[in-house]
Amino acid sequence: MTTKPRIIQVGSLAGSPSANQTLADRYDVVELWKFPDRKAALAEHGKGITAIVTSANFGANAELINALPDLKAICSWGVGYETIDVAAAQARGVQVSNTPDVLTDCVADLAWGLLIAAARRMGQGERFVRSGQWGQIHGSIPLGMRVSGKKLGIVGLGRIGDAIAKRGAGFDMQVRYHNRRQRDDVAYGYEASLVELARWADFLIVATVGGAGTRHLVNQEVLEALGPKGIVVNIARGPVIDETALVAALEAGKLGWAALDVFEHEPKVPQALLGSDQAVLLPHIGSATLETRQDMENLMLENLRAFFETGRVVTPVE
Ligand code: 8YV
Repeated sequence: MTTKPRIIQVGSLAGSPSANQTLADRYDVVELWKFPDRKAALAEHGKGITAIVTSANFGANAELINALPDLKAICSWGVGYETIDVAAAQARGVQVSNTPDVLTDCVADLAWGLLIAAARRMGQGERFVRSGQWGQIHGSIPLGMRVSGKKLGIVGLGRIGDAIAKRGAGFDMQVRYHNRRQRDDVAYGYEASLVELARWADFLIVATVGGAGTRHLVNQEVLEALGPKGIVVNIARGPVIDETALVAALEAGKLGWAALDVFEHEPKVPQALLGSDQAVLLPHIGSATLETRQDMENLMLENLRAFFETGRVVTPVE
């Protein structure tokens, strides 16, 4: 009888179709989130652990990494890894893998769903119908805004930004983007200044990576440049937008709409947004389709399998 490799799983991957079960079938899993005292659990079970499984939600900080003397691989479920201390891992020669590409289309689709929902007042219309007001009172919801043919600004033209931009052609849109560096492999216009991009755009979709480098990149100045008719969409990470400035801009009429899948302090959503008809709000579901969550699960498992069989993960970060 072969013994199963032991791993630590940092948190429950309940948003995945079968990751928890498959991990339990294939590995001897230390379920870290079930221990009340994490430090004690790591001291007791950490020795000999060469791989851990996590997600952007649970992360892997330097304390966790350094508490595992034999660690060689961190396999994350999801594309974002701003909560994993990659520098601390690399300093120890620990490989980090994520699940890129497989979720690109679904996240891009959701960005467009949010944009259209905001521009065409879909949430408001839905609430109107459900509340039974349709037909009982005169009039309807306020007029929306045409989507096709408008100017689209994209913040962060990576894999997901690219897929969002590509969909813009189907809506006859002009597309420009802001990135740390101009790309020489795309024809979209580049704006070195995010404020200028926002001033030009009707709609601004945030698709950049999260983390310290992009925190509050979309600030008061950017939001006000987008203006009273502008719509900002965020499918990236909540902290990329200064949420306090966002609420203030909406309340002051200096920004038109916000359509958000992510928030600065998830799962907390500011009361001002909850009560606003100028906001479309979703609970971080960019990748949440059965097909994509299954693909993410498969890729995470493939990284883990490859690590144990070959010593190398298949989709390392950086
Ligand atoms: C996941 C995500 O829901 O991949 C990502 O970075 O944000 C989502 O696909 C999230 O990682 C779960 O923690």
